[in-house]
Amino acid sequence: MASGNAATASLAGRRILLGITGSIAAYKAAMLCRLLKTAGAEVRVVMTPLAKQFITPLTMATLSKNPILVEFFDPENGAWNSHVSLGEWADCYLIAPATANTLAKMATGVADNLLLTTYLSARCPVVVAPAMDLDMYAHPATQQNLRTLAKRGVRIVEPAEGELASGLTGKGRMAEPDAIAAFVGDLLTEKKKTLAGRRLIVTAGATIEAIDPVRFISNHSSGKMGYAIAGELAARGAEVTLISGRTALPVPPGVERVDVLSAEEMYNAAVRAFERADGAVMCAAVADYTPAEVSDTKLKKGDGELFIRLRRTRDIAAELGARKGGRLLVGFALETDDEEAHAESKLERKNFDFIVLNSLRDAGAGFRGDTNKVTLIDRTGREALPLLSKREVAARIADRIEAFFAR
Ligand code: PMT
Repeated sequence: MASGNAATASLAGRRILLGITGSIAAYKAAMLCRLLKTAGAEVRVVMTPLAKQFITPLTMATLSKNPILVEFFDPENGAWNSHVSLGEWADCYLIAPATANTLAKMATGVADNLLLTTYLSARCPVVVAPAMDLDMYAHPATQQNLRTLAKRGVRIVEPAEGELASGLTGKGRMAEPDAIAAFVGDLLTEKKKTLAGRRLIVTAGATIEAIDPVRFISNHSSGKMGYAIAGELAARGAEVTLISGRTALPVPPGVERVDVLSAEEMYNAAVRAFERADGAVMCAAVADYTPAEVSDTKLKKGDGELFIRLRRTRDIAAELGARKGGRLLVGFALETDDEEAHAESKLERKNFDFIVLNSLRDAGAGFRGDTNKVTLIDRTGREALPLLSKREVAARIADRIEAFFAR
């Protein structure tokens, strides 16, 4: 994964079509346009009619050094603004800010302005940077639209949490221009297909162990770390099967996802997929214990304490470790104390080629967040990485996987 500067360096000479919709965050589009231009990109701007109320076409034309496109044709001379040729011209169509309204129209194929017709005819990668009020962002309709777009390959630059124009605080603030520019630069960085021809499995997310039809035992894994790894391996050309516990995350482009709930289901899916795989990365947080009996009906509460008898689940990683032969097996260790010793013991017991240790004692590491702080441990030594985004951690793991196959 390219760092921020390396990523924006890859913008030089690239053609970015910047779509601006009617949000107060449109003022940040000016800075974004400037960053893209400074990085050497050629920028053309298409705006919705409402976007003009938030930032003037004059500002954007001056910054982009190109006339702004809003209407299907120029009313002065009737010249046609071809959405097809705009879509063909661009190396990337970046819609920032993208309102809930525009996202909904994109998801359903509405084409009532130039920005949307261009989206429907664009053949290049499309990136959206949502910007809206926190409740609009969290609304199931918006979330469903984002999932639909992600499934179709649209890349989403997640909004940040913070103070919103409404005065409320929450998630919905458009990502900062430098983060968006780096995201696009990274997307346009040609990844060498160094893992082409390799079939890899990634397990991700939490398993869910039913107690009764209503309750279950699970953990805090969001799936973010495993999904980042799956996406990175696929971007490097591997054929990736992602065996995933329940999560709301979009499937990374080019990845095949198998949905599972319990540790038993994950075991069966992983053992089956491993038969034809060249390796596996075990990132899932798998329950070590599951209720010995699952009640068919909701357990009623009584006056006293309730005891649930648990039995051990099967260890998926250890099973693959026993079967692996010369194939690759990467493990994770999530620890809270005596970290290195526990991780090294798992490296041996489960027959991993290397293990990725993360500790809940490190701020910004482990569950749910977008960052992680890991130490990569193999039989020759340890490499402690600084706090990085999960995407960057995934890239460092992918580098090691490449080295394994290059032996
Ligand atoms: O999903 P996120 O919110 O992004 O969080 C990421 C993470 C913290 C879940 C991830 O970075 C991580 O540490 N995953 C492994 C968590 C874990 O369960 O570790 P463990 O030390 O209990 O297990 C050791 C290894 O054995 C792991 O590779 C695990 O996937 C595997 N295992 C464990 C039990 C079991 N029954 N089967 C297994 O395959």
